[in-house]
Amino acid sequence: MKDFKFYSPSEILFGRGVELKAGEMARKHGATKALVHFGGKSAKESGLLDRVCAGLSECGIKYETLGGVQPNPRVSKVREGVKLCRDSGVDFILAVGGGSVIDSAKGIALGLPYEGDVWDFYCGKAKPESVAPFGAVLTVAAAGSEMSDASVLTNDDGSLKRGFSSEMLHCSFSLLNPELTFTLPAYQTACGCADMIIHNLERYFSPAPNLDVTDEISEAVMRVVVKNARILMSNPRDYDARAEVMWCGTLSHNDVTGSRYNGDWASHQLEHELSGMYDIAHGAGLSAIWGAWARYVLSENPSRFARLGEKVFTIPHFEDPVAGANKTIEKFEEFFRSLRLPTSLAEAGIFPDEKILAEMSEKCTFFGKRKIGAFKKLDGNDILKIYRSALR
Ligand code: NZQ
Ligand code: ZN
Repeated sequence: MKDFKFYSPSEILFGRGVELKAGEMARKHGATKALVHFGGKSAKESGLLDRVCAGLSECGIKYETLGGVQPNPRVSKVREGVKLCRDSGVDFILAVGGGSVIDSAKGIALGLPYEGDVWDFYCGKAKPESVAPFGAVLTVAAAGSEMSDASVLTNDDGSLKRGFSSEMLHCSFSLLNPELTFTLPAYQTACGCADMIIHNLERYFSPAPNLDVTDEISEAVMRVVVKNARILMSNPRDYDARAEVMWCGTLSHNDVTGSRYNGDWASHQLEHELSGMYDIAHGAGLSAIWGAWARYVLSENPSRFARLGEKVFTIPHFEDPVAGANKTIEKFEEFFRSLRLPTSLAEAGIFPDEKILAEMSEKCTFFGKRKIGAFKKLDGNDILKIYRSALR
C-alpha cells in the first residue's frame, strides 16, 4: 500500500432547505460583501436566487450579483467577475448553480488577489499565493466541484478547455439540497450520473497497487449511481434517489474513492478537447469516449476490468479475463445508452474529419508537451487512435 494524503476541508450541509443557511454560512466564513454568481436562468426562475439573496441580507451581508455563466464556463465571464468584485469591494464569492458556476466562481476567487490574468493559472504559467474565500449552493449532481480541488474553464479565443487544481480551490462550504435538482432535465441528470461514474473509473484504473477499502467504496458508489439513475429516468422528483445521486456525486470527486494514488484521468483529458471544441455537455462527452479508451487500454490489466464488472454489474466470473473485461465495457455502454447518452462521437452529434482529429490530439498533448493517462501512458499517436475508434 502506498502512502497518501487526503485533504478535503469543505463544510457540507445536506438536506431540505439548506440553501436558507447561505447567509449564516457566508458570515461564518468571513463574508461582509458577497458576489452571488449564477448561470443562465434556472436559479432565477426557480426562485432559488431570491431565497439565497434574502438569506444574505438577513445576516447583514451586502451583495452584488453576476449571472450568465454558461455550461463549459468561459474565462471572459471570470474576468468580468474579477473586475466587478474589485470595483465593488466584494470579499466572498457565492456560487449558486452546477459545476460550471462553481468553477467560474473558483476562477474569480483565484483572479481577485492576483495581479496578472487569471488564465495564467489554467495554462500553467502561474501558481496562486492566495485566493478569495468562496462557497456553493449546488443545483446539479455531477461534476463534484462542490468538494473538489479543481476548476475547469474554456478560453474564448482558442476553444481550449483547461483545468487547474490546488488545495486552495476547495469551497469553504457547500449546501446540498437534493430538492434543488428536481427540475433538472433528464439529459442533465444522465450527464451528471455519467460524470460521477467516470470520476470513480478514473481513480479505479491506475498502475499502483489497489487498496481494498478504496476499491470497495468506489464500487459501492458506482452501484448506487447505476441504481438511482435508472429510478430518476422515470421519476425525477424521487427525493431519496436525488439524494443518493447527489451525495454520490460529491463522494466521487472529493477523492475518498481515490485515496491511494493519482488516477488515470485520460478519459477526462480526451473529453475536455471534445467539449472545448464542440461545446457538448461534459458527461455526454465522457460517455462517448470512455468505451474507446477502455478497449484501447484493456490489455494492460484485463482482470481489473473484469473485477469492476463483477462488482458493479454482477456479471459472471469469466475464466478468460479478457472476456470479462469486454463484458464489463459492454455493460457500462449499455448503462449509458439506457440513460440516452452517446457511446460514440457520432451518437454525440460530432463528426470530426482527420484534420480536426489531429488538432484535438495535438491540443490534448498540450502541443507535444505531455502524455496523458497512468493505467497506460498515451502519446499523441495513441490519442489519435482512440479518437478515431470513438467515431462510431
Ligand atoms: O445556466 P442554467 O440556466 O442554470 O442551466 C444549467 C445548465 O444549462 C442547468 N441547470 C443547473 N441547475 C439546474 C439546471 N436546470 C434545471 N434545474 C436545475 N436545478 O444545467 C446545465 C448544466 O449545468 P453545468 O453547471 O454546466 O453542469 P455540471 O454540473 O455538469 O458542470 C459541468 C462543468 O463542470 C466541469 C465540466 O468540465 C463542465 O465544464 N467539471 C468540473 C470539475 C471540477 N471542478 O472538479 C470536474 C469535472 O470532471 C468537470 O470537468
Ligand atoms: Zn468529470
